[in-house]
Amino acid sequence: MSIHDEIQKRRTFAIISHPDAGKTTLTEKFLLYGGAVQLAGSVTSRKNQRASTSDWMELERKRGISVSSTVLQFDYAGYKVNLLDTPGHKDFSEDTYRVLTAVDAAIMVIDAAKGIESQTQKLFEVCRNRSIPIFAFFNKMDRPTREPLALLDELESVLQAHVYPVNWPLGTGFDFKGVFDRQQNTVHVFDRLAGGGQHKAPVSIGNISDPFVKDRLDEASYAKVVEELEILDAMGGEFDPAAVLTGYTMPVFFGSALNNFGVQLMLDNFLKYSATPAPRKSGDRVIPTEDPAFSGFIFKIQANMDPNHRDRIAFVRVCSGKFDREMTVTHGRTGKRVKLNSSHKLFGRERETVNEAYPGDIIGIVGHSEFGVGDTLTEDETIRYDEIPRFTPEAFIYLGNPNPYKAKRFTEGLDQLLQEGVAQELVTHTTSQNSRLLAAVGPLQFDVIRYRLETEYGAETRAEPAPWKILRWVSPQASDEQLHTMVLPTGCQLATTREGARVLLFHADWELKYFAEKNPRLEITRHPFTSLTPSAAL
Ligand code: G4P
Repeated sequence: MSIHDEIQKRRTFAIISHPDAGKTTLTEKFLLYGGAVQLAGSVTSRKNQRASTSDWMELERKRGISVSSTVLQFDYAGYKVNLLDTPGHKDFSEDTYRVLTAVDAAIMVIDAAKGIESQTQKLFEVCRNRSIPIFAFFNKMDRPTREPLALLDELESVLQAHVYPVNWPLGTGFDFKGVFDRQQNTVHVFDRLAGGGQHKAPVSIGNISDPFVKDRLDEASYAKVVEELEILDAMGGEFDPAAVLTGYTMPVFFGSALNNFGVQLMLDNFLKYSATPAPRKSGDRVIPTEDPAFSGFIFKIQANMDPNHRDRIAFVRVCSGKFDREMTVTHGRTGKRVKLNSSHKLFGRERETVNEAYPGDIIGIVGHSEFGVGDTLTEDETIRYDEIPRFTPEAFIYLGNPNPYKAKRFTEGLDQLLQEGVAQELVTHTTSQNSRLLAAVGPLQFDVIRYRLETEYGAETRAEPAPWKILRWVSPQASDEQLHTMVLPTGCQLATTREGARVLLFHADWELKYFAEKNPRLEITRHPFTSLTPSAAL
């Protein structure tokens, strides 16, 4: 098969949602369709037995949250599907955002009883900033939900999205009887099955005016659906696949992941209308996916992912050319030539050696302590993919080692985790090897660091609160003279990141105003000075 054909059949995406909307359940059902799991474990049995395939850390199970991201690859209907799992908790957002730099589309799961929630909105903004096509799935239609028209309206008004409902629910909650596929003009009837959605749902199909469809709904519900469908037809023109590809139109689906209803309908449409792997930018150039030279970038690093293999994996998104296990490539940041023969294909916890991969695929490279998030690996030394934006921390902590006998473990472990990008380290005139100042997007991240230091490195930790709440980036143009003479509110602090950027730490908003008044010529910003600016909403 030619490289062109290989690329055409690939789809690389993530499922995004507010915690509890049903992302894990939907992932399981996708895997069921892909034949990657035999029987989708119900969430309850999952709790008792083992986590779903995409969970791996014990902490995830203890806390009931998804901490780290996974890659799942499966074949379905002629497609090679790469599904990247994103952590579901708001505190792990930086990791999630990095994963979103590696996908070409996203499915946004929304609990139809709740509508848009805070996390949905943030993730949506990130996708939209990258013009990633988003498909919405209103989940839990088997339970009482909000009015479908009101849900659509909310998508349009809150997210400023242009929506197109591809299917439409026939009733909601206990009266939920199925969906009408507006593309195919057919009804998919929902049968509540004993045993939930462990198996692929049987689908009965008919037209909206078929007597058996009318029979299932009471007169009022039927009239309401017909009226809603008329409103939709009157509201919005034809379905335009080109507008979906540019990220302008958001196709909308209704269903129930738990009952496995509407899942296949959405998956089929998603694969049909979502984009093939997109080319990436290297400075002013766009590198075509069919470029003869292999290239990719590292979007995530994870150490000790599997206790059976205590090592470090760099996740690489292949962007151009064909990856071959025997090849030697250039590591963009150091200019070193490296062999990638330690590469793996990943499936949740499991890994297998990968011999070849194509644009859109994710490979895991084991070892290579010099690799960092954002680095380019390529056969063509002139390719250097744009940086992955860092986010501005809002939580700070001093972390020290209470046990002098374990100092080495503490230092090595923390250095390793910082290289993974789990938090940023700040250096001030008061920090030391035994009192390190860490900064993260949310405080839960510190629990993860402490837990991992303890379980993976056998290190002990002592945490002390740091007083600041706000970080601002100092313009790289600011002179040393300016920094020596600036006027800072009491207790505010100048610090330096590992990468050498200078930042200021404040306790409260009023101090920012005070600072601006006293130092009008010293520019500080909310977002780091990089080539890419993350969403202003973050
Ligand atoms: P997440 O990954 O987005 O956090 O959500 P997850 O799939 O874990 O689902 C969250 C809860 O919602 C689960 O219940 C799951 O069974 C339920 N759920 C998912 N899809 C549907 C659906 O289509 N209909 C209904 N009725 N429920 C659904 P849980 O964690 O076991 O909690 P509980 O509700 O059983 O107590």
